[in-house]
Amino acid sequence: PRPILLTRHGESRDNVRGRIGGDTALSESGELYAKKLANFVEKRLKSERTASIWTSTLQRTILTASPIIGFPKIQWRALDEINAGVCDGMTYEEIKKNMPDEYESRKKDKLRYRYPRGESYLDVIQRLEPVIIELERQRGPVVVISHQAVLRALYAYFADKPLNEIPHIAVPLHTIIEIKMGVRGVQEKSSESHR
Ligand code: G3H
Repeated sequence: PRPILLTRHGESRDNVRGRIGGDTALSESGELYAKKLANFVEKRLKSERTASIWTSTLQRTILTASPIIGFPKIQWRALDEINAGVCDGMTYEEIKKNMPDEYESRKKDKLRYRYPRGESYLDVIQRLEPVIIELERQRGPVVVISHQAVLRALYAYFADKPLNEIPHIAVPLHTIIEIKMGVRGVQEKSSESHR
């Protein structure tokens, strides 16, 4: 079986401040995770010649991948975090206070709710289609370093989770989810925390 490793970027400076979206660099703890991830990948994929590392186009995933050496890296815009539109850079508290209607509509239907000038989870799921096709077509292992909303959707695809559950799946920081792909699809799933 071929491993697909899914992980969020290391903790970012905006994660520390509770701000969504943005394009900040890593916190100290995020940098530490990047090193741990590199160690893990190096051991796990040691004898794999065809492995590749996929990131989004945002700094926090590129910086998380940077200590990993010896494998090709590819940036996908389709792996970027859900676009929070006018709410980009805000905290959930600020959204609740300044845009209570938006906050409530999202709470009611997180899957379909689309941020003004941004995206919904359904939009994210749709734009991931080419990534999924390519993931399935790859011969070698792939390490996907992306973001919470995107990884919820990717994980749900491989774990066969219903659409409505997607926005609520737990994908903690500093955790590596491993999916083993066999000839007949997903064989096994496991996860390892490095917190
Ligand atoms: O910054 C965005 C978050 O990673 C997505 O989380 O959909 O639970 O607000 P949420």
